[in-house]
Formats: sequence, structure tokens, C-alpha cells
Amino acid sequence: MSREYDLKPAPSGEDSSAKAVGDSLINRRQFLSYGFNTATGVLAASLGVLGFASLLLPPGGSGGGDLAAKYWAKGREDEAWYGAMHEQVMKKSDFVAEAAKSSTGTSGAAGVWNGVPIVVTYVDHSKNAGSPVSNGKARFQFMDGYDGTGKYVGHFDDLADIDPRLAPSENLVMIFARCTHLCCIPGWQLVSNSFTEDTWTPGGGDDGGTKLFCICHSSRFDPTALEMNTNTNRSNGSKFKYAGVRRSGGPAPVGLPIIPIAMNGDIIEGLPDYVDWYTYCD
Ligand code: FES
Repeated sequence: MSREYDLKPAPSGEDSSAKAVGDSLINRRQFLSYGFNTATGVLAASLGVLGFASLLLPPGGSGGGDLAAKYWAKGREDEAWYGAMHEQVMKKSDFVAEAAKSSTGTSGAAGVWNGVPIVVTYVDHSKNAGSPVSNGKARFQFMDGYDGTGKYVGHFDDLADIDPRLAPSENLVMIFARCTHLCCIPGWQLVSNSFTEDTWTPGGGDDGGTKLFCICHSSRFDPTALEMNTNTNRSNGSKFKYAGVRRSGGPAPVGLPIIPIAMNGDIIEGLPDYVDWYTYCD
């Protein structure tokens, strides 16, 4: 069940901790370290979580780690539909069953993947895409992207044409859940307000529900609106383009990057090919 929260105003000023250190990309070992240093601290701070390190990949950062996404339901997620599945692997069938209860054909859950926070959203795109948008049934929208200044960046398809794995797989999209405002962890329908109710409108705007909502300062993200955008590696200041979901409102400047999905039977796994997209909070 969703909870009511009082929202805080966004603090003024920009975070200026970025510093130049050279290479614009990070390798897999650095990503594992990144996941440990950021997700552990943020989850512990934001959700009151202990023992998060037990979810990380095996020590040493070898390539044989488990890439399955797992539910995270310790904290304010304990009353969500996946509350009894804390630390269990995410399965598509769970999302399909939950989406069947939704008026929009969607479901979402918080989780962890590769040591970082995620939100996985199921959208019954294959069924709903052929129906009129006026019926309020959600479907993925492949859109142009604009940065925080309104400058055109590119279309989602510009990246997905190069790497088709970026397109939603099996009606699922995995989203790196660190807010592009000040790096809190957005959730999916954990807060009750007009932005998170089980409604959907087309266009990636802010007038419908079914949003990812960041409790810290009320940023919203539409997990059905897929676009290209840009962000900055916080450690070295380099800019990068990424495929992500659209920021629809609030102080966050841009949307959240996606993590490509690979299905392992019914189990949802993420691909670590675009780890440099997740560095804006590092
Ligand atoms: S951290 Fe400020 S809105 Fe998310």
C-alpha cells in the first residue's frame, strides 16, 4: 500500500564535486567498486538498510558474477506487492501477474542489480500498443530527447538501432534508480499522489500517473517514455549520451538511464555494457 509523505523543497545551487581525472569510461572492476561505494551507502542512509553488501557480486570483481536483478523490499518497500520477496530474483511472471491487476497494464518493483539500486517496470506494450491511446493503456513510447537546457539531443532509436538490446525486452525495462537531481533513489508507486496513481497518458508528460517518483524533492520520471539524453560523469566531468526514461517533472534535470535486459528463462538479468551511464552520482 502506498504511503503519504511530506515533500521537501529542492535545495538551491548545483553540486560541484565533479573533478577531471582523465578517462571518460570506467571498467568492470571500477563499476563493482562504484556499486559498493554508492549503493551501499545510499541504501543504508535512505532506507535504513543493514547488510546490503551481502547482495553484491562475489569478492574480487571476477566476470562470473550473478547478473540477475533482485527485489529490494526492506524499508518503505516492505508494503509493496513484492514485499515478501526481498532479495529473491526478479521474474517476469511476477510482473505479469501484478500488471494484470492494474488498470493500465503496468507493474514495477524496486531492486538491486550488480550492487546498484534499480526499478524494473513491466508495460504490457505488445498488447496495448495496437489500441487507441485514449483508452489509457500504457505502452512504450520511443521519443526525441532534450537536455536540461531544452537542446535537442537525439532520438531513442538512434541508439537502439546501433544496439537493439537497448529496446525493452519482453515488455520490461530496467532503470538505474539514482535521481539525476541529488542522487536519491526514486521508487514506483510507493508514494500516493497524482503522479503515481495507476493512470497513464501518452507523450511522456507530467499529467498522468504511473511515474517513478523521487521522494526527496518530488522529481518524476515516466518509465514508458524512452529517449536519448546526456549527463556527466561526476568523477571526471566527461559528458555522455545515454538511452533512458524521460524526466517528466520536478528539479531533476534529465531522465534516468536504462540497463539493458537479458532474459534467462523467466529470470530478469541486466547487461553491464553501459556502466559509464551510471556514473553521474559517483
Ligand atoms: S534527489 Fe532531489 S528530487 Fe530526487
